[in-house]
Amino acid sequence: MSTNGVEEVYLFDPQLLEELEFDDQKCAAYRPDISPTHPGEGLSLRPLCISDFDKGYLSLLTHLTKVGDISREQFEERFNLMKAQPGLYHTVVIEDMTTNQIIGSATLVKEMHFIRQCASRGRIEDVVVNGSYQGKQLGKLLVDVLTLLSRRVGCYKVSLECLDKMVPFYSKFGYVKEEGQNYMCRRYVPK
Ligand SMILES: CC(C)(COP(=O)(O)OP(=O)(O)OC[C@H]1O[C@@H](n2cnc3c(N)ncnc32)[C@H](O)[C@@H]1OP(=O)(O)O)[C@@H](O)C(=O)NCCC(=O)NCCS
Repeated sequence: MSTNGVEEVYLFDPQLLEELEFDDQKCAAYRPDISPTHPGEGLSLRPLCISDFDKGYLSLLTHLTKVGDISREQFEERFNLMKAQPGLYHTVVIEDMTTNQIIGSATLVKEMHFIRQCASRGRIEDVVVNGSYQGKQLGKLLVDVLTLLSRRVGCYKVSLECLDKMVPFYSKFGYVKEEGQNYMCRRYVPK
């Protein structure tokens, strides 16, 4: 796919999203019906592109946490490092094609392990939808897509961390709080 004759550089192969059997395997209910190929009027769901630096991707992430002042060079260096680990980093974005702005995003990271016969596990991170677009089922769509993708790319399990108030949201996709499991964290910089 190309924009203005310039070939897009995707973080991962867009075909992976096209191959998902979303209609048959989605976890959540959608009213009205939306899907990765039809996320809504004027919207497009796809892998993160290197050109998304100019489409407000980093500014969207500020709704999650501190992002800092990231130069184009830093962004491209990090993007290329992630892309150079094929199959590990899957950031999906939703673009409003009428404004050319990224209005939603979420990331699936696949970790490789030795346990369980060299198994891989998934982690879903950085789920965010721009405030003006919330309540249109886009957060649900992002999490559903990445949950299906985690299975498609061979993870034996997928997990995420969230605040108590978000538990009902993630429960829609089959995520459960596991008995006796705790999330522990040691921070080296303040929140
Ligand atoms: C959380 C977030 C991604 C949800 O995105 P969204 O597009 O507004 O959500 P959707 O329209 O897809 O909501 C779908 C469903 O989740 C529910 N939901 C949305 N936000 C919720 C919340 N904070 N707590 C509980 N349920 C929530 C909705 O009621 C809706 O339920 P329904 O399908 O039964 O009607 C979005 O609110 C956001 O970006 N918040 C700020 C960043 C953040 O907190 N990210 C999550 C980090 S763990």
